[in-house]
Amino acid sequence: MTAEPRVYELNLESDLKNVEAADEMSRRASSTAGFDEDDRQRIEMAVHESLINAIWHGNKNDASKHVWVKFEIFADRLEVRVRDQGNGFDPTNIPNPLAEENLLSISGRGIFLIKSFMDDFRVEKAAGGGTEVTMIKRVVSKPKST
Ligand SMILES: Nc1ncnc2c1ncn2[C@@H]1O[C@H](COP(=O)(O)OP(=O)(O)O)[C@@H](O)[C@H]1O
Ligand SMILES: [Mg+2]
Repeated sequence: MTAEPRVYELNLESDLKNVEAADEMSRRASSTAGFDEDDRQRIEMAVHESLINAIWHGNKNDASKHVWVKFEIFADRLEVRVRDQGNGFDPTNIPNPLAEENLLSISGRGIFLIKSFMDDFRVEKAAGGGTEVTMIKRVVSKPKST
């Protein structure tokens, strides 16, 4: 038995057409980790929103800048890291999409969605510069239906 996590990594140029590659890797990693279809979809949506944010808000769509994505599968959880080359942001300081004045807005829902779909979400300065978003989803053993 091994305690080593299984790791999947991607290094992408900042172009929205590359988001699809991360979607696909997300599906592979979450099914390897043993999540059910509902959770696989939640994880994919969270990763998808995070990738768009990294390319759009972080790297300002500058194709010379990169986004790194890393999936690590542990026995009890999946950890996903999305790193860009931007200046970061304070996730406690963004508008609440459920506030009355924002209800009709079509933007501003990505972080909200990530927080509701994942068990843990944090934003940090990356060691080599840039910003790293970490998202964690725990494997919950569900009672077997009889
Ligand atoms: N990787 C990032 N780098 C810099 N700013 C970010 C990043 N991700 C999110 N943000 C900031 O957080 C805000 C909210 O993000 P989000 O909820 O996805 O809404 P939207 O992308 O529609 O604006 C963004 O408008 C942006 O200001
Ligand atoms: Mg967004």
